[in-house]
Amino acid sequence: MNADGRRLAVLVDEMAAAVFVVARDKNLTNDELLAALAFLTEVGRADEFVLLSDVMGLSRQVDDQTHASEDGTASNVMGPFYRAGAPEISNPGSIIDPSHAGADEPLVFAGRVLDALTGEPIPGAEVDVWQADGEGAYAHADGPSPWHLRGRQQTDAQAAFHIQTVVPLYYTVKDDGPTGRLLAALGRHPWRPAHIHARVTAAGYRPLVTQVYVAGGRYLEDDTINGVKEELIAPVLDGAISFNLALSPVRR
Ligand code: BEZ
Ligand code: FE
Repeated sequence: MNADGRRLAVLVDEMAAAVFVVARDKNLTNDELLAALAFLTEVGRADEFVLLSDVMGLSRQVDDQTHASEDGTASNVMGPFYRAGAPEISNPGSIIDPSHAGADEPLVFAGRVLDALTGEPIPGAEVDVWQADGEGAYAHADGPSPWHLRGRQQTDAQAAFHIQTVVPLYYTVKDDGPTGRLLAALGRHPWRPAHIHARVTAAGYRPLVTQVYVAGGRYLEDDTINGVKEELIAPVLDGAISFNLALSPVRR
């Protein structure tokens, strides 16, 4: 057996052991087992395993572990709405599709991209952002303005980015399938607080995927995917969120 096979065997054994302990200690019934298996079958059919992992807090836990050795801005889960290939915008520039001009409260998302260890500026880094609008909706690929509130900007010579956007609103994760039913049965809500997603890349640095949360909004205390980290919450001041993004150098 190779190293991957051995790792798989350990993970399967230990997961089975953990589930076994619950089944034994809680005296799981056959009906409950069959209901759980039927539920998981439905989750698979609905393509909701990632969502289930998100609302169980497992995605957040694994993301934290994956990036534990990195310095700089805290990472955060990517979520299902990232789309590669967003339009490149100028700096300063806007990610508001012209057909939506004036629809929501304007916001500037600005800051600098810095080396997490030295604090040196990183000019030419790419800041790829995506977010919901003022009603909590993401633009979708098959919608009328597929790249609304999505865009990529390069930091300037001072490593600054300056993106004209709108204040996002909180929204619900998909809640019309088996995962939503589970949340309801547990008395949990499906809401996420307002946030802006960013994926930041630069040569010689580890890619950073994170979210910046709008201070003062609803659901910061009880995000349904437990994604909020205190250090990622930023206030809107004079129509702008100022937030520096620090990248961890690739270790050689
Ligand atoms: C999001 O932030 O876009 C997201 C993350 C996890 C589940 C659903 C949405
Ligand atoms: Fe989101």
